[in-house]
Amino acid sequence: MKIIRAKDYNDMSRKAANIISAQVIMKPNCVLGLATGGSPEGIYKQLIDWYNKGDIDFSEITTINLDEYKGLSRESEQSYWYFMHHHFFDHVNVRPQKINVPDGTNMNVEEECARYDHIIQAKGGIDLQLLGIGVDGHIGFNEPGAAFELGTHCVDLDESTIEANKRYFEKKEDVPRQAYTMGIKTIMQARKVLMVANGKNKADIIKEAFFGPVTPQVPASILQMHPDFTLIGDEEALSKI
Ligand code: F6R
Repeated sequence: MKIIRAKDYNDMSRKAANIISAQVIMKPNCVLGLATGGSPEGIYKQLIDWYNKGDIDFSEITTINLDEYKGLSRESEQSYWYFMHHHFFDHVNVRPQKINVPDGTNMNVEEECARYDHIIQAKGGIDLQLLGIGVDGHIGFNEPGAAFELGTHCVDLDESTIEANKRYFEKKEDVPRQAYTMGIKTIMQARKVLMVANGKNKADIIKEAFFGPVTPQVPASILQMHPDFTLIGDEEALSKI
C-alpha cells in the first residue's frame, strides 16, 4: 500500500490524473475501471485539459464503471451513465462502444450481473481501477458487511450512503434504494487500484480502513491486501494518519 499526500483537492486530482495518464500512455488499449462522485471530478477535468492540449489519447481505451443506481435510465441526470458522459466521456475521444456502465433499467438482476461480469472477463480484467471511498468505508456500492468474494451484484444502499448522495437529487426520497455494483472480488482482481479521498469527513474512515483490521465491516480495508494499491489523499483526509 502506497500513500501519497497531496496539498489540496487540485493537487490530489492532478497527481491521480498523472497516474491514469501514465497508464494510458504505457498501454493505449488498457481497461480503466472508473468511479463517479465528488472525489474523481477534478481528475476528469484534468484529463480533459490534457486531452485538449493533445497530450493524451483515449481512442483505444475501454472503460468499465463501478456502479449504477437500479431503476435509473441513461437519460436521468442522476444516473452514473449521465454523470460519466457529462463530466468526462463527452469531452474526450473515448469510443462510445468501449464505454461500459451497468444498465440500471434492467430489472432482471441475475441477467444484468452476469452480463457485466462477462464484459469484464472478456476484456481481460481491469488494468487500473479508480475508487473513491464512502464515509462508511464502502467502495463501489459494496456496503459494510459485503462479502469479499462477490462479482457484480445488486445491493440495498445504506442509510449513510443515501444521506451522502441526496445532494445530487431534488429530495432524499428520490435517491434510489438499490444499485448494481462491481463486487470486491472484481476490484481486488484489478492489476492496479488507485483511490482518491479528500475532505475532513473522510479522515476517520481512512484511518479505520487502512490502519485498522481487514474486515467486511469496512469494505475498503481489503485493499490493504492488494499488491498494487495507491491512496492519494488531501491534507484533511489524511489528517488522522
Ligand atoms: C462512485 C462510487 C462510490 C463513491 C463514494 C465516494 O462510483 O462507487 O463508492 O466513490 O461514495 O463518493 P464521493 O467521491 O462523492 O465522496
